[in-house]
This record gives sequence, structure tokens and C-alpha cells, in this order.
Amino acid sequence: MRRMPKRLWIETVGCQMNVLDSELVVAALRRQGWDMARGPAEADAVFYNTCSVRQHAEDKIYSALGRVRLEKQKKPDLVVGVLGCMAQKDQELIRKRAPWVDLVVGPGQLHQVPSLVADVLAGGGPRLEVSLDRKGAARDAIARSFESYDPDRDPAMRPTPFQAFIRTQTGCDKFCAFCVVPHVRGPEQARDPDTILAEAEKLVAEGCREITLIGQTVNSYKFANGGRTTRLADLLVRLDAVAGLDRIKFVTNYPRDMTDDLIAAVRDLPKVSHYLHVPAQHGSDDVLARMKRGYTIGEYMEMLGRIREAIPQAAVTSDFIVGFCGETDAEFELSLDLVRTVGFKNSFIFKYSPRPGTKAHERLPDDVPEEIKKERNRLLLEAQAEVSLAGNRRFIGTRQEVLVEGLSTRDEKREVDVGPDGVAQLTGRTMCDRIVVFDAPMRLVGRLVDIDIDDAGAWSLSGRVADGLADAVPLDELALSGESATPLYDIALPQAPPRSTAPTPEA
Ligand code: SAH
Ligand code: F3S
Repeated sequence: MRRMPKRLWIETVGCQMNVLDSELVVAALRRQGWDMARGPAEADAVFYNTCSVRQHAEDKIYSALGRVRLEKQKKPDLVVGVLGCMAQKDQELIRKRAPWVDLVVGPGQLHQVPSLVADVLAGGGPRLEVSLDRKGAARDAIARSFESYDPDRDPAMRPTPFQAFIRTQTGCDKFCAFCVVPHVRGPEQARDPDTILAEAEKLVAEGCREITLIGQTVNSYKFANGGRTTRLADLLVRLDAVAGLDRIKFVTNYPRDMTDDLIAAVRDLPKVSHYLHVPAQHGSDDVLARMKRGYTIGEYMEMLGRIREAIPQAAVTSDFIVGFCGETDAEFELSLDLVRTVGFKNSFIFKYSPRPGTKAHERLPDDVPEEIKKERNRLLLEAQAEVSLAGNRRFIGTRQEVLVEGLSTRDEKREVDVGPDGVAQLTGRTMCDRIVVFDAPMRLVGRLVDIDIDDAGAWSLSGRVADGLADAVPLDELALSGESATPLYDIALPQAPPRSTAPTPEA
């Protein structure tokens, strides 16, 4: 009798890095004969790929662990795993709080997951695998303990077959006072550009049309080999030359590393999206200094000026933290001013959440009351929504080239099932990363299509396929072979994740 394959359920919280890590873990287990379960109830292993950036994200995982305990009581062989940043941050504490967890695996040990699961299934008992603490050893030893995890990809595991993330570097060395990432993701380590290029070429050969390079500070990318140094701009030049690739994006940028050569590359390379996520975090110099961000608002504005001058149509987006230690009303007003004067396409706004191990947690009191954080969050979001609406309305009456991504959230919820020629409400993105919603045949998914924009809201545009085009585009089997998807990049936008490996907005 043939043995049934083991089945995996994985829930992913947090950023693009986690989405990619989940894709890679799933791919590795599939190569060992595992299948995906349709839900935790039918799974042989349930994994949580976790985020530590704010307390809320951790609380969600601890409550999910409470629920999975009931499954484990029904099925004692169920393997429960906590992967990623929380595993690195909380380590033994996870099994203290949830003794039914079998695997605790940090972001630097994900390559071990298949063998660790096999050990647990063979009765070897619970396992904890994490990297060295950033304060506990020499930099080289710590760096080695955070092994980059970039094995062969499995196209079936991506939310869409024509979009993929590629890691440029792991970790972060900036140590912003509020941020846990350098502690849980380790020192910054760049991947070899040849490896990145080979990965891109392989993805494109499999049908991928859009690549998003991801790094905590992607624009700090620097790889030295012999006498040659490759920076992000050089990498973009090489990727732009890959035949069959349509679009290239990269996130997240650190304001101080927004160099002129990078801005010129975005301006000159036809495939590079005119979209720059460069978080300001705050509008006040004093708060930025307390945050140890390493720049002033004057310097941030100077950087924006260089972007605007070179690429006037570029969309710039930001992250903001409200209620950081000691934030006064007057300081908060400066964040409001910055949102209004810059006109960001979009901003992700977070309430400050103290993170053990960070400088802010050690040295500054978390003294802004929760109610005030909430109110400031609301006010900043309101200001951003006004700015976003005004920015989007400028597109009404224009024609935009859109990379079609899949069913819109509305039609995905309705579970419309149309054939390749059936018309559904689809969604895609412009060259400057604006979401566009339009009715079109499913066979356009995965293609670049011109859309005439006729309406705009704060978070998306809507329009019609430009005359005659829908009929002119030949049927593309490749684009139809994958599932449709909701875009993943703006994880804080109110969008449903396409499936269990997609991240859930956690703040
Ligand atoms: N460079 C990373 C940043 C990761 S954290 C990237 O790839 O985006 C993402 C955002 O979360 C940060 O830009 C910041 O705005 C917010 N954030 C980080 N630590 C936080 C904390 N302790 N409390 C609230 N928000 C935080
Ligand atoms: Fe965090 Fe600052 Fe790095 S926000 S990821 S420490 S650039």
C-alpha cells in the first residue's frame, strides 16, 4: 500500500522576508514528499513563521499556539513549529509558555527544518535551533550563525507564478533604537550578485515577469569580491538586461543610502519601477535623534529633492512610528506636516511597541499612553489618506501600463470562477506601484496591459483596458497555469492574503 504524503500547514506573519522564507521552507519539504494541507485540522505539521517587530504580532502567535494545542491533543503526532524572528527572540521561553511546541527554529536555521521535522517524527523529542546573540560573540561568528537560506525555488509555492521575491542580503546593522530586526535577523550579509542573477534568470525561465529584491536596507547592498564592488545600482543594471523580465522593484530603502547612482539607475533602466519605499519614521529631528535613525528632516528632504529632480513621476512611500518615547504633541505635529508636505503615495503607520533588547527599551520610557498613540495613529492615517487621494486623482484621464496580477479582492472573495476568456474584476500595478482595478479577461493575468484610468480612491485607481488591446493580446498558457493573487507588497493595506503562505497584516 502506498503511504499518504505528510501534509503541512504554514501561517506566515510579518514582512516580505517571511513570505520568502515560508516559500523556501515549503519548497524544501515538498521535495521530501510533503503536500500542503487545506487547514490545520488535516495537517501532520503546523508551522508559524513569526514576526517580532511589534508586540501585537507576537501576541497573535501565542494565541494561535493556544488553539493548536487542541489539535495536538486530538493528534499527539502533530508537529508544531515556531519559525523565524520570534524563535530567535524568545528561544526557550516559547516552550515554557507552550510546552506542546516541538520545533523552535530561528531565521538563520531554516535550512535545517526538513531534518528537524524528520527527527521529531522519529521520536527524537523537541528541538531548538537558533543563532548566536548579537552581543555574545565576535561579529564573524555571529554572522556565520545566521546562515542565508536560499535553496532552489519551487514555482508552485509562490502566490503567483509571475512575481517573486529575491533576497539581496540578510540582517541589518543600522540598530535604530526601536527596532528588533538587527537582533533577530543578525548582521547584514550581502549575497553574491552572480547568485542573485542566476536566481533571477531561473525564475524568468519558469515564467516569472516581476522580481522584487528584498533586504532590510536593500539600498545598502554592497558585495566586494577581489577588486570589484557591486552595489544595488550595479545589480539593477545586470537584472535589467535579463530578457523576459518586465519589472524590477526593491524594498526597503534606508534614507542615508539613497545615492545618486541608485536614483540614476531607477531613472534610466526601463524595467525598474518608479517606486521607492524610503521610510522617514518621524517628522521631528529630536525624535529621529532619539530613534538613532542617523539623519535629520533637512537631510531627508534633500534626498527627496534629488529623487524628484531625477524622476518627477516617482512614487515615494514611508513608514511612520507614532507615540515613540517622549513624543510630544508638537513633535507629533511635525510628522503630520511631513506627510502633508511630501505627499507620500502611501505610508504605513505603526504605534510604538517597546521591544526587549533594543536601546529604546533599555534607556527610554514608553511614556505615551495607548489612547494617545491610537489617536495619533488615526490622525496621521487620515492625513495620509487625503494626500493619497489627491495624488491618485492626478492619474484620472491618463493611460497607464499595468502588470496584471490577478482577481481583485472583491472577485476573489466572491470566488468567481471564469475561464480564460471570462471577464472578471482584475487588479494590477502601474510602473509607480499604484493599484489599478478593471474588468478584463482572465487571460491578461501576468501581462503588461494599457489601462485608461477613469477614477481614483485613496488606495487604488480604476479604469478600462485601452481600446482594442484586450482582443489583441494572444492567449498565454503560462499566465493561466498559476493561481490568481492579491498583491503582497503593501502588507498594511486592507487586503486578504491569497493563501496560507501569505502574510497577515499584524498591526
Ligand atoms: N527595514 C525593514 C524595517 C522592518 S520593520 C523593512 O524591510 O521594512 C518595518 C517597520 O516597522 C519599520 O519601518 C518601522 O516603521 C516599524 N517598526 C519597527 N520597530 C517598531 C516598533 N518597535 N514599534 C512600532 N513600529 C516599529
Ligand atoms: Fe530596523 Fe532600522 Fe534596520 S528600522 S531593519 S534597524 S534600518
